[in-house]
Amino acid sequence: MDSTSMPFQPHVLPALLLSIFQHLFAKGCWFLCSDYWDVLKEIRNLSRNAECSTRNGGGDSFGGNLSSHLRFSYFDHQNDSIEVPCGFLKKFPISDSDKIGMEKCESVVVVSAIFNEHDKIRQPRGLGSETLENVCFFMLIDDVTLKGLEYHGLISTYSSGYKIGVWRIVKVTKEDLYENPAMNGVIPKYLVHRLFPNSQFSVWIDAKLQLMVDPLLLIHSLVISQNADMAISKHPHFVHTMEEAMATARWKKWWDVNALKMQMETYCENGLQPWTSTKMPYSSDVPDSALILRKHGLRSNLFSCLIFNELEAFNPRDQLAFAFVRDHMNPKLKLNMFQVEVLEQVTVEYRHNLKPSDVSFAKKSSMTTKTIRAQPDLLDQNGSCSSKCQQYLATMWGSHQ
Ligand SMILES: *[C@@H]1O[C@H](CO)[C@@H](O)[C@H](O)[C@H]1NC(C)=O
Ligand SMILES: *[C@@H]1O[C@H](CO)[C@@H](O)[C@H](O)[C@H]1NC(C)=O
Ligand SMILES: *[C@@H]1O[C@H](CO)[C@@H](O)[C@H](O)[C@H]1NC(C)=O
Ligand SMILES: *[C@@H]1O[C@H](CO)[C@@H](O)[C@H](O)[C@H]1NC(C)=O
Repeated sequence: MDSTSMPFQPHVLPALLLSIFQHLFAKGCWFLCSDYWDVLKEIRNLSRNAECSTRNGGGDSFGGNLSSHLRFSYFDHQNDSIEVPCGFLKKFPISDSDKIGMEKCESVVVVSAIFNEHDKIRQPRGLGSETLENVCFFMLIDDVTLKGLEYHGLISTYSSGYKIGVWRIVKVTKEDLYENPAMNGVIPKYLVHRLFPNSQFSVWIDAKLQLMVDPLLLIHSLVISQNADMAISKHPHFVHTMEEAMATARWKKWWDVNALKMQMETYCENGLQPWTSTKMPYSSDVPDSALILRKHGLRSNLFSCLIFNELEAFNPRDQLAFAFVRDHMNPKLKLNMFQVEVLEQVTVEYRHNLKPSDVSFAKKSSMTTKTIRAQPDLLDQNGSCSSKCQQYLATMWGSHQ
């Protein structure tokens, strides 16, 4: 049946009904209705950019753990010839053949990581028929996770190039990296453009999520068609960095409350503001960073490097450094902060594995860290935060009235 003989004649509908219908239609399937073949052509056709260098140096830590003065000096990146520090002061400990495999990945890469057997491997759903020829899927795991996979019979003998479903498995020998597995997870999450220097787009997906929509369609609808450098979900409840910081302390998501305070004070002192509508088009200061889509290029690479340096200096809780980096970097990041409903529509969330070893790192650290505070709230003791964050808090609380 061709379209001219459709039983529905849209022009006979009253104009108002028609516009409502179109509106609902557009809202209901704005990404699922993108034509897969058009998107495939569009992404294949985009020109290469291979501007990234992956230089290895010799450093104490993977990123050099720079002073705040030095870190902030790189935020204003007007001069292209100044190189921004961006990890890799040590060799990233993977096999040469895996490294070559990663460097061969052009166009789109989907990356995830499981350290410390924290999650199960989940296969993406809804892939188009040509997607595996155009998208590489890489899952980075550590020895502990590998042993678990072997134990459960998912891997017989690991060799580089090993695949489970769509995922190419890459073993990271993390002994030389960070003590904290979460910090190691931050390397593929934020330095994806360096691990995959020839890929043009990337999708970072936390291993607790299963992808339910073809990544090419996601890149098209959330990044390319929005003219964005990066797309990330808004946090379902918080808009202010301080709200997230207080929740992080209260729910003990980071054990060193003093260090959290110091981080927030450092940011307040250096110009962090609570979210207000003057920050538009940035619609929130707090992301849910379980899914990050990027167009690799100057602005998103700069953002990723700068935030990585913050995480190394303070802690791997990336939501806390997010707005500070975004608001202070120059040139500005073109950011699509989409509604959490979109995240819920394109992924399914599973629980992390519950293992006694998950708490061992935090326990061990809290026993050796003298700075730990018993009071799990950032604003206790008259709020030492409020000395430097007083203006921030006044504005934040003022904006709620
Ligand atoms: C491919 O790119 C070229 C030049 O950038 C453009 O003229 C052409 O319309 C593009 N084709 C598709 C199918 O997007
Ligand atoms: C950019 O930085 C380089 C190296 O520090 C310097 O030689 C050059 O003069 C700078 N250019 C501008 C426009 O500031
Ligand atoms: C970086 O240095 C700071 C301050 O000395 C320290 O608290 C932090 O733990 C270091 N980061 C890492 C990842 O070692
Ligand atoms: C908190 O504030 C009260 C009243 O302003 C003061 O008496 C008290 O010493 C303060 N406590 C600390 C730990 O600064």
